[in-house]
Amino acid sequence: MIYLDNAATSFPKPESVYQAIDRFNRSIGASPGRSGYATARAADKIVSETRRLLAQLLHVEKASQIVFTANATEALNLGLKGVLRLGDHVVTTVTDHNSVLRPLRSLVDRGQITVTWVPCDGAGFVYPESIHDAIRPNTRLVCITHASNVTGAIHDMEVISTLAHKNGTLLMVDATQTAGCFPIDVQAMQVDLLAFTGHKALLGPQGTGGLYIRPGLEVQPLYEGGTGSQSSSDRQPEKMPDRYESGTPNTPGLAGLSAGLRFVLEEEGVETIQAHEQMLTERLLDRIASVPGVKVYGPPPRARRVAVVSFTLEGCPPLNLAHLLASGFDIAVRSGLHCAPLIHRYLGTSDTGTVRVSLGYFNTADDIDALVAALRQIASKAPTG
Ligand SMILES: Cc1ncc(COP(=O)(O)O)c(C=O)c1O
Repeated sequence: MIYLDNAATSFPKPESVYQAIDRFNRSIGASPGRSGYATARAADKIVSETRRLLAQLLHVEKASQIVFTANATEALNLGLKGVLRLGDHVVTTVTDHNSVLRPLRSLVDRGQITVTWVPCDGAGFVYPESIHDAIRPNTRLVCITHASNVTGAIHDMEVISTLAHKNGTLLMVDATQTAGCFPIDVQAMQVDLLAFTGHKALLGPQGTGGLYIRPGLEVQPLYEGGTGSQSSSDRQPEKMPDRYESGTPNTPGLAGLSAGLRFVLEEEGVETIQAHEQMLTERLLDRIASVPGVKVYGPPPRARRVAVVSFTLEGCPPLNLAHLLASGFDIAVRSGLHCAPLIHRYLGTSDTGTVRVSLGYFNTADDIDALVAALRQIASKAPTG
């Protein structure tokens, strides 16, 4: 199979990721943070090492400011529900994912907050001036995706961060599509909260993710429970990261994520990964443009983007096209709205969405050529006009 759905979850993972999960499950298997015997200490070490590697990747000064969650969705819910209070206003964008839009919508429906959804242009870019114009005196938070999972467009976080802080609002960034394949420096970006997932470009397993919380920022936990610390008290510990990490963590997953992080940081480097994915994206954009009936949505070639390309084929709805690619050519892509419904109004694809090709570090130029050849064959039979 040619796997081109890395924006959903990356596949395959580096061999070391599979080995780390297996090693944990077979030879360690203990709960971290709760006991002093050897395997419990080994489990502790895996958790703290994963946190340290994430801090290195994201340029976080104190690793304890990163809290682990099950995925980016949980991290985004923690950030949103943890800082927003009755009467707050939030600025988000139409390019954001349902993992942002739905928690916000539910707070709006309960009458707790108001939200402005800032539009994007036809390529999926949000203009910082539009964010500026949306900010009101009671705006507590600007929440924006770093890169769109539909068009790949990367927003200019430095500019957005400056204007958010100039207007006295907090900034939360959804780095789900960028962590691991685009450099991130939370200090340079001056973000207050940054959500990431472990199972996409960080090459870890599903069930991993986390939230960076800027030191000093008050965030209410999503839930409370056992942390292995301060057990004599029935009050949740205040210290980081225990305040937000109740219950036994996904230690096998973190063992795998740690191996993924080592691969990204130490074996390859984010810049190398970014350059490879950019090369593949440009090859795809250059070649797909000549397939009759194909319309590509999103930024032009060589613009600031991640390796996500959305397109449609005249005469062949996205769902059918994805099915034909899978059944006839063993090529895995995603079709539809990609859990980001609002952006499609601006792309003109609200009816049936797009086909989304998302490339990963293990894809090759041959994969692109096979996809383009398959599209040519399908296009030659698709009804036009
Ligand atoms: C931009 C964006 N945000 C959030 C998510 C949710 O990520 P997770 O599946 O790790 O919760 C996704 C996943 O598809 C995404 O693309």
